[in-house]
Amino acid sequence: MEIHRYEKIWLAGALLLIVGFIATVSYGAVGAGIEMINDEGGQVDSAALDEHPKFSEPGTYKTGPNEYDVYVIAKQFLYEPGTSEPIRVPANSRVTFHVTSADVIHGYEIVGTNANTMAVPGQVSTMTVEFNEPRKYGLLCNEYCGSAHHAMEGSIQVVPQSEWNETMVVN
Ligand code: CUA
Repeated sequence: MEIHRYEKIWLAGALLLIVGFIATVSYGAVGAGIEMINDEGGQVDSAALDEHPKFSEPGTYKTGPNEYDVYVIAKQFLYEPGTSEPIRVPANSRVTFHVTSADVIHGYEIVGTNANTMAVPGQVSTMTVEFNEPRKYGLLCNEYCGSAHHAMEGSIQVVPQSEWNETMVVN
């Protein structure tokens, strides 16, 4: 069978596009440190967060030299802590966020960074972030969660080491 030269070129081009699309989708799903929420963070009873040893008093906990855990509850339409007051962490620290939801699925994105996870009721999402410079970061919800989804936001204040006071830590 005779295939016209132009037809061969278009066939090759179409094939290349398909391979290219598969490659970009695969990279977007698993490349560059992207991973699905796993069960590493454990599970919680979303209806009984006030009985949880940490989520009952969400906030910053010191776990080691320059290492902190931050427990955050997302709920319609705020972060606790984060919205009415910023989450406070010291500069030059390694912070593991433990994020869960008290009601529906929310997002938890540190604006302008690649730190982003979901807040799922019953599940704790964890992610570890290093904060080097003192500065403020915005937080926002990027999962549609109801009528005020667009207004669900908060902030993280990275405090200079010299101003950091351990009494800012929950325990
Ligand atoms: Cu919470 Cu959108």
